[in-house]
Amino acid sequence: MPELQDKRILLGVTGGIAAYKAAELTRLLVTAGARVQVAMTVAATRFVAAKTFQALSGRPVAVDLWAEDSGHGMAHIQLARESDLVIIAPASADFMAKLAHGLADDMLSTLCLARSCPLWIAPAMNQQMWVHPATQRNALQLAEDGVTLLGPAAGEQACGEVGPGRMLAPEAICAAIVARFAASGAAQTVAHSSVPVLARQRVLITAGPTVEKLDPVRALTNLSSGKMGYAVAQAAIEAGALVTLISGPTCLTPPGAARFIAVESAAEMLQAVNRQVPTSDIFISVAAVADYRPLQMHINKLKKSEAALTLELVSTVDILTQVAHSSHPPFCAGFAAETERLAELGEAKRQRKRLPLLAVNSAQDALGSDYNELLLLDDDGSHPLPRADKLTLARQFIDHLARLYTGS
Ligand SMILES: Cc1cc2nc3c(=O)[nH]c(=O)nc-3n(C[C@H](O)[C@H](O)[C@H](O)COP(=O)(O)O)c2cc1C
Repeated sequence: MPELQDKRILLGVTGGIAAYKAAELTRLLVTAGARVQVAMTVAATRFVAAKTFQALSGRPVAVDLWAEDSGHGMAHIQLARESDLVIIAPASADFMAKLAHGLADDMLSTLCLARSCPLWIAPAMNQQMWVHPATQRNALQLAEDGVTLLGPAAGEQACGEVGPGRMLAPEAICAAIVARFAASGAAQTVAHSSVPVLARQRVLITAGPTVEKLDPVRALTNLSSGKMGYAVAQAAIEAGALVTLISGPTCLTPPGAARFIAVESAAEMLQAVNRQVPTSDIFISVAAVADYRPLQMHINKLKKSEAALTLELVSTVDILTQVAHSSHPPFCAGFAAETERLAELGEAKRQRKRLPLLAVNSAQDALGSDYNELLLLDDDGSHPLPRADKLTLARQFIDHLARLYTGS
């Protein structure tokens, strides 16, 4: 059976260059078995004709709130009721602002307000528009309102600029929709289980490496890319969580709907975590925090000499252990990289750190790669998650965590 058989997806298209990609998304969703109803803003029809979507979806496209031929005259209510998921792709800056303020002055914005099913958006805009404080405020507001943000991705833009604001690829959006329906039960529609598994839970996540300075130009760090932690942040957002992501230096774009705190050293990460923990329900430590730092940070660059150099290192605070052992800890979960005896060493670590959930991966395979393989350890034993891309694994990890957290 196709993965989205019987699922009723309302695809909203707004006025941006990426509107042409929505045509491919329509095709992918239809191919996956979904019944796709397209609704467009007037601006979107300036980019791609409604006829294109009508041909691809096999249904008339809803544009005009006041159309004479709109059934019993309340098409926006009917469309909202008949959808298992509304996905806006691309979501323009303008449309995000409207959603964040609850405006309803056209067909698409009105049905968004009238729906009770999940609302996902895939923002797409010029990078200056995306980083503008107003857009960022709107993104956070939408996340707080339970809207799931997919992306945006970073890279070259149609306007010639480079940066965050590209719409996620149609394939990635379609895969996320398939994964969400699969997670909420193959036989169900999400309309009746529309509360996401971590709705409005405050989730604190650390990601990436830390950098321990030796002198102004040299540092001790590790090979963590941050990909797993950022994927966990994206998966938590998709599950409805309000995510704060604390990250060491990486080359990645943080997920749009996460509050983002950049740090460098283990000490800075500890400080940032300590500040956030009192207002967090869940803490997920994915960062590869340095276990040691140089005893001394030299103010001036160390001079090269022929003699051997011995560095004195001191251990850093184990952030996850400290949080998990505090008097009122949030629900704590961690990631551990091991090079051997994953189950045995991982379980010992989980016990030592007093964690309800630990995900162990093989350090050699996971670092820097787009793929991974996890062994989840909890009080019920071990649960292997076979090799997959990191976002897929992150979604499975978050589903598992949500089950433990809610006791379901
Ligand atoms: C050529 C062109 C390209 C545009 N591309 C984008 C875009 O990619 N993202 C965006 O948010 N706005 C873009 N805009 C601006 C929107 O089209 C404009 O804000 C419009 O009012 C959005 O309407 P809507 O939100 O009702 O669809 C573009 C405008 C033009 C003329």
